[in-house]
Order: sequence, then structure tokens, then C-alpha cells
Amino acid sequence: MKNNNIIIKANNLERVYDNGKIKTIALKDVSLEINEGEFVAIMGPSGSGKSTILHQLGLLDNPTNGKLIIDNDNVLELNEEQRTRFRLEKLGYVFQSYNLIPELTTIENVYVTAMALGVSKEEYIKNAMEVLKNVGLENREYHLPSELSGGQQQRVSIARALVNKPKILFADEPTANLDRDSSDNIVNLFRKLNKDFGQTIVMVTHELEEGEKADRIIWVKDGLLDKDRIKKNKH
Ligand SMILES: Nc1ncnc2c1ncn2[C@@H]1O[C@H](COP(=O)(O)OP(=O)(O)OP(=O)(O)O)[C@@H](O)[C@H]1O
Ligand SMILES: [Mg+2]
Repeated sequence: MKNNNIIIKANNLERVYDNGKIKTIALKDVSLEINEGEFVAIMGPSGSGKSTILHQLGLLDNPTNGKLIIDNDNVLELNEEQRTRFRLEKLGYVFQSYNLIPELTTIENVYVTAMALGVSKEEYIKNAMEVLKNVGLENREYHLPSELSGGQQQRVSIARALVNKPKILFADEPTANLDRDSSDNIVNLFRKLNKDFGQTIVMVTHELEEGEKADRIIWVKDGLLDKDRIKKNKH
């Protein structure tokens, strides 16, 4: 399922970090559009601004300048409460470290995000079961994170990110702590989620091989977009 609805439109995003002594210009002037159903990789050297871009697009940070429209909402104008709700309903996140709660089982780790939205217990258990099946963890519902492999823990964190059916899934180097096989597994899972459910995905990665599995690679250099390559033959 692919169409040409613009889901993210960023104009002239700038992010300057100022710790009182030093100003670091992490993003200089970034404008981009991402379509609904696209699987986009963000690549570039260490320190080029990849995570900073992801944090702006994912509403985890605020740009010092610029405009950002997500799913037709002028998101930089939302108040704190609206922003939290927007993130819970429409955005999902996966990070390098899985950030699972060690005392909770797989299924509990997944449905905490749904509980936060206030859906009924019956519904959040059903939704959690369904996403766990989609990430291939249907037999690990009652394991603790310490009883799972790194790749499986990352799958739990992906299920958690997907449980509220987000419009956009953001991932910042989701495979950086994994071996080659588990990394392939995770990126292939993203590919499948994109193909089967039209999930929009924005993924930062270091690995060209992983970036090549996306529909498009946006290259970042010194806080600016460098190259933007959309593949002719989408997967
Ligand atoms: N909180 C912060 N305070 C000050 N400077 C920061 C902060 N976060 C990031 N930076 C700076 O902004 C620039 C971009 O950082 P960013 O984390 O976006 O890079 P990156 O491309 O994700 O790198 P990596 O591949 O190493 O993760 C870097 O020069 C970094 O030092
Ligand atoms: Mg980074």
C-alpha cells in the first residue's frame, strides 16, 4: 500500500544546542517531505545530525527554528498535553537500547503504551498479542527481557512502538547493538511491516546494506541534507 499523501513536511528546520558556553549548530537548514507508506533511511557520518533530525521529526525535541507539519497538523504549535497525546496516538519509537522495563514480561512491556492511551484492558491485550505475532514473538509473551536474546528484546520494543498503530515509526540505529543476523532480521521485519501494512518508517542507520533496504536514503552532512535518493524500483 503506497500513495502520495505527504505525512511529514519539514521546512527550514534548525537546531542549535546552547549550553551557556558553547553553541553547537546541529541542524542548519533542513527541509524535506516524506510520504505516507514510505520507508526512509537517514544516513551520514557520526555527528552529522541524524539523531537530531529524528528527534525533531519525532517530536522528542524542539527545533530552534522552522516549521513542521505531521499528518496535517502544525505540530510545533501543540501545547504539552496535545503533543503527548499526538505522540502516543500517532508516533512510535525504537532506539538502539531497547529500553524495556526489566520487571515486566514481554506482553506487559508492549501494552504499557496502549494503557497510557486509556484503551480497555481487553483491547490492549488483544492489540499486544496481535503486534507480538507480527514481530514473530507469539511464543514469548510471558518471558522477562532478561530471558530474551538481544534481537528478541528489540522485537519487543518494536511491538511496543507499534501497539497503538502509529502513523509513523521512528528508529534510531535499531540494530547497533545486534550481530549481523539479528540486524538483518530487524531490518527485514521493518521491510515486511512497510510492505504488508504500509507502515511509514524513518530509520537512522550506519550500515549502507540496511539503508539499501529502504525505499529512499536521505544523506546528512554537517547539519544539512546532502543527497536524497529515492529508488526507482521500490521493494
Ligand atoms: N544535547 C546536545 N548538546 C550539545 N550538542 C549536541 C547535543 N546533542 C547533539 N549535539 C551535537 O550535535 C551534532 C549532531 O549530533 P547527532 O547526535 O544528531 O549526530 P548523529 O549524526 O546522530 O551521530 P551518530 O552517528 O554518532 O549517532 C553533533 O555535533 C553533536 O555533538
Ligand atoms: Mg545518532
